[in-house]
Amino acid sequence: MNYYQQHHAEYLEGLKTFLRIPSISTLSEHKPDIKKAAEFVRAELEKAGLQQAQLIEGQGNPLVYAEWLGAPGKPTLLLYGHYDVQPPDPLDEWKSPPFEPAIRNDNIYARGSADDKGQTYILIKAVEGLLKQHGRLPINVKFLIEGEEEVGGEHIESYVATKPARLKSDAAVICDTEMFAPELPTICVGLRGIIYGELVVEGANHDLHSGVYGGAAPNPIQAIAEILSTLKDREGHIRIPGFYDRVVAPSAKERAAWARLPFDEKEYTEKEMGAKALVGEPEIPLFERLWARPTLEVHGIRGGFTGEGAKTVIPARALAKLSLRLVADQRPDEATAQLQKAIAAACPKGVTAEYRPIHSAPPSLVNPDNRYIQAAAEAMKQVFGKETVYIRSGGSIPIVAAFDEFLGIPSVMMGFGLPDDNLHAPNEKLHLPNFFRGIEAVARYLELL
Ligand code: BES
Ligand code: MN
Ligand code: MN
Repeated sequence: MNYYQQHHAEYLEGLKTFLRIPSISTLSEHKPDIKKAAEFVRAELEKAGLQQAQLIEGQGNPLVYAEWLGAPGKPTLLLYGHYDVQPPDPLDEWKSPPFEPAIRNDNIYARGSADDKGQTYILIKAVEGLLKQHGRLPINVKFLIEGEEEVGGEHIESYVATKPARLKSDAAVICDTEMFAPELPTICVGLRGIIYGELVVEGANHDLHSGVYGGAAPNPIQAIAEILSTLKDREGHIRIPGFYDRVVAPSAKERAAWARLPFDEKEYTEKEMGAKALVGEPEIPLFERLWARPTLEVHGIRGGFTGEGAKTVIPARALAKLSLRLVADQRPDEATAQLQKAIAAACPKGVTAEYRPIHSAPPSLVNPDNRYIQAAAEAMKQVFGKETVYIRSGGSIPIVAAFDEFLGIPSVMMGFGLPDDNLHAPNEKLHLPNFFRGIEAVARYLELL
């Protein structure tokens, strides 16, 4: 048993403590938990033997920073993770409570287990293990852990933009993505961007009797439906003028690599998603739809009567939450302007429709031809015993684009989640063998560099 294997029980206890803190960034009543989680991470970094462990307060939730710079002349890695989590609802679908970590079948179930507390903890424990064993690290590290990734917060971005000297590094390492399949070491080299906002539609200035006024009064919920179906057709093509102009198609080499990935479409559809059929642009292969094409999704519609029984009313106003995922080289500001224009053009008579942006992030693509990604692929291969595959992901990690833009460094996305980890959903889990191997793979990575 190596050092890391001897400490499994301790890592598990530490992770459980972390997972018990309900650090939900989107709900303001959880501010004290955000603080607690930040403080937990700070204390762990200090305990691991890092220096300068501190909270960086500013607008929004605290960042946590720590460093170890005792290897002059050696590379410096910027290690990134996030301690905030998504809300746990719907609560009644959890088999065990979201903030009481429970172990079943080699998995630890809790909100944040995979996204991203478990993976952030992997980075901390990997570094701690090297420091405890050797009293030093083979390279330099700077930790930057944030608390508003799940709400597209701007704090980290402005920090990165204004403190390039302090954060100066050769590459960023991010453990916040997934492996393509169990046991298959994976590096993610592309993420989608996003624009997220709400569509507010207003009709009459008060609710109206639907019998007395129906046939004459504008209906904001109907208007939302009409606007949305103008924006995206039944085959999944987005009908916003100019929207696809900057979309870059994947290279032939990338397409060919994706086609070789081990994949069972029926299992993906019926087991992993629990859906009846796949949808989306029929002429585009699945992985390209997920990783290299933009999307438009509605997340919720509020308005009118949704209580028990029946109420005949024409609501005065309605609201839809929606987002568009973006791919290289689309730009959030331009896409927002295009969307607003398309909404104005699609808005039916008798209502006003306004799109209000909530947050946004640019897409990112990383060129894997550098020693930082190559060494990560090799480290994962050594620990998992299989050749590492390169994929993209449809999700977004806003800071990746900022690391590129403001620090000029590539992001090495070595993730240890699994496709069925239920991110953002009930019964989120982390596969424990991945957690432990992840720690060893990151440690191996630092040694290889
Ligand atoms: N870790 C995820 C993104 C992710 C998931 C990347 C799976 C690769 C594979 C991240 O925490 C996340 O959920 N991001 C949000 C970002 C948004 C709120 C700005 C997302 O993608 O919805
Ligand atoms: Mn995440
Ligand atoms: Mn997330």
